[in-house]
Amino acid sequence: MAGVTFDPLDSAYIQNPYPTWARLREEDPVPDIGGVRWVTRYETAASVLKDHQRFSNKFLDADAVEEILFEDPEARRIIARRLKVPPTLIMVDPPEHSRHRTLVNRAFSGRRVVAREGSIREVCLELLEEVPTGEAFDFVASFAWPLPMRVIAEILGVPTTDMEDFKRWSDDALAALGPMDAVTQRRVAQSSVELYDYLASRIEWSRGSPGDDLLSGLVQAAEEGLAQLTTAEILSMVVQILIAGNETTTSLLGSGVRLLCENPEQMAMLRADPDLWPGAIEEMLRFESPFTGLFRVATEDLVLDGVDVAAGTTLVVHFGAANRDPRKFVDPDRFDITRENARDHLAFGEGIHYCLGNQLARAEARIAFPLVVEAFPGLALDSDRMPLWAPSPVSRGMKELWVRV
Ligand code: HEM
Repeated sequence: MAGVTFDPLDSAYIQNPYPTWARLREEDPVPDIGGVRWVTRYETAASVLKDHQRFSNKFLDADAVEEILFEDPEARRIIARRLKVPPTLIMVDPPEHSRHRTLVNRAFSGRRVVAREGSIREVCLELLEEVPTGEAFDFVASFAWPLPMRVIAEILGVPTTDMEDFKRWSDDALAALGPMDAVTQRRVAQSSVELYDYLASRIEWSRGSPGDDLLSGLVQAAEEGLAQLTTAEILSMVVQILIAGNETTTSLLGSGVRLLCENPEQMAMLRADPDLWPGAIEEMLRFESPFTGLFRVATEDLVLDGVDVAAGTTLVVHFGAANRDPRKFVDPDRFDITRENARDHLAFGEGIHYCLGNQLARAEARIAFPLVVEAFPGLALDSDRMPLWAPSPVSRGMKELWVRV
């Protein structure tokens, strides 16, 4: 193997990792990156995702994750106080996975999402009203993060007044995926303890006064024995929904606006023909996949793109590299809102773990983008402040995106 080397913390790589990923895909398609094998070609990545028997989602147990994350003794003392939850959904295989998934699917069905469209629109309009008046503003801080946060909070039945805490807890959960010094480890551990305590108290509260929110629905189904779920399992699923649903949708909105500003002729096409929006959103997901990769573990010895992979090896299915594979997408580094097969992207995964919130995320984007471009006819990047990327090995999104309106 050619052995492509790169520094994941290098700022040029963080800004634009695609040339490196292209070299890996062509020269070293299943590279060993720090003891983990990346799967970078589209067909191979899709086949791994579809084969949950040979590629398990039980990649690490919670205790092992904590040991890796928290080296600092004080951080370990803090995290030891967190409520214990069993692995659910994204961390398990059938048959447990099917039990969890059947239940939450109902809450995120197309019908339920359609019923939320009015309130998503209202939140968008409120946020646009609140955008600071002046020359330029940070689209991420003012719109891209508060929107999914408020939508999820509503679905969970959490008061919007707790939003700042949610933002902090969610950011800290994501910080845990990158390198952390001792101070950060303690903060992340503390946030995690607080988040679990808070949600557990909301679950208890839902028992006493059920509403039509997700928490109440899960609690009721568990009480009626429909899905035989324990409170700890409910808590575990809710934490995942919260974490998986926020940062990813923020990334889609942030990257999407940046791509539209960088491609004004395509923004003009969308203004002229709003029917192009759904295809444009799929292309945004393909072009800048919010999760760049997620984990699997091989359950048997096997071969991937000519590379021997031993049972027990941890893999990263690399959505970011796979979605730019020229074997699948013609001229893959061109952003093209009319691309015919954009929807074949793997940004939401594939197979039994296919994103639970895909219809919700798509609805948020479908509602938000047209409102944003309509509100700001002169929308463009602020040339004084360059877009800033958030460094993370598994996700890709804007930390700051200053726009002029
Ligand atoms: C643009 C936004 C989003 C992207 C790109 C995204 C991406 C993904 C991907 C790639 C997976 C598959 C993980 C795997 O195969 O291991 C996934 C699963 C999941 N997503 Fe999303 N997601 C987004 C939004 C959301 C939202 C809004 C929610 C919640 C409301 C959500 C909740 C989940 C959950 C719970 C799973 C685990 C499903 C399972 O294991 O069965 N996601 N997502």
